Amino acid sequence: MTFLDQSYLQTSVWKPDLFKGKVVFVTGGAGSICRVQTEAMVLLGANAAIVGRNQQKTDEAAKDIQSLRAGSKVVSLPNVDVRDVKQLSAAVEKTVAELGRIDYVVAGAAGNFLADFNHLSSNAFKSVIDIDLLGSYNTVKACFQELRKNKGAIIFVSATLHYYGVPFQIHVGAAKAGVDALSNALAVELGPIGVRSNCIAPGPIDDTEGMSRLGRGEKDAAIARVPMQRFGTKQDIADATVYLFSPAATYVNGDVLVVDGGAWQVGQGAGQKDYPVTLKKYFDAPKGAKL
Ligand code: COA
Repeated sequence: MTFLDQSYLQTSVWKPDLFKGKVVFVTGGAGSICRVQTEAMVLLGANAAIVGRNQQKTDEAAKDIQSLRAGSKVVSLPNVDVRDVKQLSAAVEKTVAELGRIDYVVAGAAGNFLADFNHLSSNAFKSVIDIDLLGSYNTVKACFQELRKNKGAIIFVSATLHYYGVPFQIHVGAAKAGVDALSNALAVELGPIGVRSNCIAPGPIDDTEGMSRLGRGEKDAAIARVPMQRFGTKQDIADATVYLFSPAATYVNGDVLVVDGGAWQVGQGAGQKDYPVTLKKYFDAPKGAKL
């Protein structure tokens, strides 16, 4: 199963061989957002390596993505936890051995669940900071020599929920704020050696894990709050990724590309429906109650 297919080459504005000879290294590549990012790059000529924790899921995703373009190579790198820089370094070594180089890096592996402050343990907070923030740092750390050699580019997968206070997402908001800061500082430090660093901040994207948790009525109400009057599609994220890695963006560095149809500008995050009634209900619920 893939999200994109050959029709992307006809319907998108991109040239088919845009990334011919290039290699993209993607953490979280078997998930939904990072998977479609990888698919677009492979369809447009790149080879790829995807990092995941789960062997079966990562192997299957690599095989499916590779089937998108004849002659493409997609390396599966399972059993890698981005919290461990040594595991990432071994994954980078394997990528270079099999694909010859790394030009682009997508730091996308992330952990998320909904929990209010009262039920969010210190260890739960740390787990998400470690996966999202330390994991992103480790990813760039492990890829650095390749990025430097090839004057590459980095995309961090961020979010919009730290632009304001979003209940139940303290851990993720704090982590993604850190990711933005990491990207900005890298843009300044690595710019002079020819390496660009940017973030993509997806808004509500249809058919992803988070959005599938919403019921029909809630979904209609959520769509009504988006200025573009629809949820984002996976292709919206694919196109943003292609743009930032393409030569069209060689002067774009230290930016956050928000792909959310203008949703966050409205100032109502997920979880703020019926605020503060909903919040009070969960805050006082017993531990383990389903949100
Ligand atoms: N609500 C509250 N606390 C939770 C939780 C939830 N839904 N899920 C996990 N936790 C807590 C655990 O209880 C534990 O805290 P404790 O030691 O105080 O009990 C802590 O988080 C770590 O849990 P653990 O399962 O050991 O962590 P992990 O490192 O194996 O998993 C997570 C990391 C928690 C982020 C897990 O959700 C995950 O692996 N997610 C990956 C997939 C994902 O989230 N994808 C969505 C991408 S947007």
